[in-house]
Amino acid sequence: MTFSDSLYSQYSGSEIALMMKRIEEFNYLQDIDAILDKILEEARQLSGAEAGSIFILEDGALRFAYVHNDSLFRKDAANAEIYFDFSVPIDDQSIVGYVALSGKPLVIDDAYRLPADRPYTFNSDYDKKAGYLTRSVLAVPLYTFHGRLTGVMQLINAKDENGGVGPFSKKAQDLIPLLAGNAAVAIDRGTMNREMILRMVKMAELRDPLETGAHVQRVGAYSAEIYHQWALKKGIGTQKKKRTKDLIRLAAMLHDVGKVGIPDTILKKPGKLTEQEFDVIKLHTIYGGRLFMNRSSRLDRMSMQIALNHHEKWNGTGYPGKISDIVHPEDFKPVSKKQLEIPLPARIVALADVYDALTSRRSYKKSWDQQKALDIIAAENGQHFDPEVVACFFEILPVISAIQNKFRDSDTISSN
Ligand code: C2E
Ligand code: SIN
Ligand code: SIN
Ligand code: FE
Ligand code: FE
Repeated sequence: MTFSDSLYSQYSGSEIALMMKRIEEFNYLQDIDAILDKILEEARQLSGAEAGSIFILEDGALRFAYVHNDSLFRKDAANAEIYFDFSVPIDDQSIVGYVALSGKPLVIDDAYRLPADRPYTFNSDYDKKAGYLTRSVLAVPLYTFHGRLTGVMQLINAKDENGGVGPFSKKAQDLIPLLAGNAAVAIDRGTMNREMILRMVKMAELRDPLETGAHVQRVGAYSAEIYHQWALKKGIGTQKKKRTKDLIRLAAMLHDVGKVGIPDTILKKPGKLTEQEFDVIKLHTIYGGRLFMNRSSRLDRMSMQIALNHHEKWNGTGYPGKISDIVHPEDFKPVSKKQLEIPLPARIVALADVYDALTSRRSYKKSWDQQKALDIIAAENGQHFDPEVVACFFEILPVISAIQNKFRDSDTISSN
């Protein structure tokens, strides 16, 4: 009897499958947004909180990083709020600032009736703007096991069995701080994953010390949210949707790493490319595909699909054309790939990439205003782009704009 046979005789197959799935989840390379989503999901389940948000410590302040709110956001829909861009100072004026400063959890039964001896005040701006009523709050500092603060989690409005809002229970006050240590470590890992990808992109395609990677984060976020909307319309289950959304965000950030093989003289040419130069540029799809050729993980497979196919067009006139496997460029005989022959993640990134290229400055072009970019995308519906993907994109325009506002190009990049 083999080892796994003996395991199967002790436990039911489904138990083992579940355990393997859990272990697999820990091994995933996860992006920070997927990790924050999971932390809030677990914390809210444990505490009964209707809403919650996480702030991450960044440059000495608390940067708003993620939010859930069951009563404000249409359940499961793509929402712009997670991309809101603001920071709160670490001081005794606000609830999250005070928690970071004191390093202790804070329990509030009614945010509008704070005891007079508290230094901090409840900022009701958000409630007013959003039409929400905050009552109970449980805010905890997120310390790693080494005692380093990574952020603050704020849970809002504990619900009782009848769905009414009340104070946070003793159980929630005991358990949420226990969860915080694991959350802090996971946040660290997610931040590192994002930074590692940005570093790789910088080395490969940007080669510019001033470049912040804002544009690849936009392409990643646009792609993730377009997929989210697509999955919603197709009725894809929540867990599958979340996992794929995480993968597509990561893989989309890597869509152009094949530019590592393109000389600076071509890539950074200030003016229009000659036909021969453009032929060289086209190879970045094949170079990128080859980087992920070993296909050892879903992330590799999706990164390869996107890198190879993100310049294919719905009508079959894109590049590099159909190849059954990555081949050496010399052997490369392009045959066009069209419509559903192009993998979905690549059809999505094709749109996200062009929208971002149009609305950003490049070495060879100025940035265009949003309306002009939208007109081009509408005109290319069914030509360059998959009509279903175009529809999803237009349905989530407020989310697209929020992403654009969050990941702005830094002004230090030289203009031309
Ligand atoms: P990129 O800058 O990331 O652009 C991605 C895609 O956005 C382009 O793919 C194209 O489909 C679209 N796009 C960008 N700018 C415009 C525009 O002004 N009008 C329209 N209608 N579409 C636009 P494409 O053409 O296959 O180019 C791939 C990459 O080749 C570009 O990536 C860029 O790195 C480089 N490239 C393309 N044209 C030029 C050029 O004239 N000069 C230089 N230096 N590089 C270029
Ligand atoms: C991108 O396409 O998102 C980045 C590459 C570039 O700057 O051309
Ligand atoms: C990963 O996606 O990072 C690896 C596991 C897999 O094949 O799904
Ligand atoms: Fe590209
Ligand atoms: Fe690109």
